[in-house]
Amino acid sequence: MSKIKIGVFVGSLRRASFSRSIAKAAAALAPAELEMSFVEIGGLPMFNQDFDDDGTTPEAWVRFRKEVAGLDGFLFVTPEYNRSMPAVLKNALDIASRPYGKNLWDGKPGGIISVSPGGLGGFGANHQLRQPLTFLNVPLLQQPEAYIGNVADLLDEKGGLKNESTRSFLKKYMEAFARWVGVVSGSR
Ligand code: FNR
Repeated sequence: MSKIKIGVFVGSLRRASFSRSIAKAAAALAPAELEMSFVEIGGLPMFNQDFDDDGTTPEAWVRFRKEVAGLDGFLFVTPEYNRSMPAVLKNALDIASRPYGKNLWDGKPGGIISVSPGGLGGFGANHQLRQPLTFLNVPLLQQPEAYIGNVADLLDEKGGLKNESTRSFLKKYMEAFARWVGVVSGSR
């Protein structure tokens, strides 16, 4: 049976991003039926409807839209910026939601893991992200919720997981995510 293609979208472009480290750890713990691939969003020009209207759609948008269209589901791993999601992630959502009537996120399952060096675990970003994803018709895994707080204490200097409890939580999360992807995909 062919694998289910899941795109991983990281809301940080920082070289030493904690979020990317957590995303890599989560992807590595995904059940075998999921094929996890990272979708790079840092080089996407800022959304401007004129590009599509004028027939000057940036090549990077074309490639990105094609990539999103080829996925079966989405895992978003994001830090919190000013109690919200980083602009780079919102930009990616907007680009693949347009032109009007061509929402490429539509009906495919998603999961969200928020990450922070602070104690609140990026709760604000996690829930802000749920708002556009609800409108874009991405059915989201509800439980377990994943707010990874105090992340600097959980990773070693190479970005690897330091303790078994984080590993076990991410594994459980990815198993629940895979079940959710199965439920949503089966009903499409
Ligand atoms: C932050 N940071 C942050 N952290 C948090 O928990 N809540 C917040 O609202 C904010 N706001 C915020 C705004 C901006 C503009 C920056 C640059 C940072 C801190 C943030 O969590 C920290 O820099 C993380 O390390 C960013 O994630 P990555 O890059 O390590 O994945």
